[in-house]
Amino acid sequence: MGVAATMILSRARLRAKAVEAPATLPGDGEGMPRHVAIIMDGNGRWAAKRKLPRFAGHKAGVNAVRSVARAARDMGIDCLTLYAFSSENWKRPAQEVSDLTGLLKHFIAHDLDEIHAANVRLRVIGDYRAFEGSAARMVEDALAKTAANTGSTLAIALNYGSQNELTRATQALARRVAAGELAAEDITAERIAGELDTADLPPLDLMIRTSGEQRLSNFLLWQAAYAELYFTETLWPDFGPDALAEACQVFAGRQRRYGGL
Ligand code: FPP
Repeated sequence: MGVAATMILSRARLRAKAVEAPATLPGDGEGMPRHVAIIMDGNGRWAAKRKLPRFAGHKAGVNAVRSVARAARDMGIDCLTLYAFSSENWKRPAQEVSDLTGLLKHFIAHDLDEIHAANVRLRVIGDYRAFEGSAARMVEDALAKTAANTGSTLAIALNYGSQNELTRATQALARRVAAGELAAEDITAERIAGELDTADLPPLDLMIRTSGEQRLSNFLLWQAAYAELYFTETLWPDFGPDALAEACQVFAGRQRRYGGL
């Protein structure tokens, strides 16, 4: 871990220990984000720059997932949500879909014990049951194994699309209205949030996108309403603990007003 990550880590520890210390450390607008989401973009370009197949980029991307998930844990981030496979990614060539599914399975097979031992709860947003049988079963087992963990949450977006999530939430609420359980006027922002896949996750503080693209690509559209956005040119496989620490540092310097003054 580099200097920036170490600094952030020691500040996070200081905050965790500081019973008498002020709630905000000098230079902090907001302190550490509780919930960070990342659009992990640029695996293909990373591979192309090295004249490697796209698969090599995705494989390097999984290594970045590992190191960033560990760093997030060490920094005291409560929840890290990663966009691993969107509901639109099925449009990619079958070989790439199969490669990404294979990497997901490999990640669960090799990393689940570490995740569990670190008291991390694994969560999935999106409908992972669309993946082929053995992958879906592995995800299901991993969710069950870590469900009671209380340290932090690693949420992985699989076959996830925000518009689909909001459509499902709307349908669920409409069914309750049709059944006479709920009045239309009782559909509040809280009730909608309660129907989303993220209902049990903390509010989103910071959304990061790598590789220079500046859009949300159907990721956490509702949840990002008041999140800070952070875009970096760094390609995902090159994004490590220092890059995460830098994003958190920028977040700490931002003033969030939630529409107020
Ligand atoms: C975007 O890069 C990346 C993805 C669509 C997949 C992200 C997946 C991983 C990092 C690996 C699987 C994750 C887990 C949790 C095991 P791109 O292919 O669109 O890159 P490009 O825009 O440069 O072509």
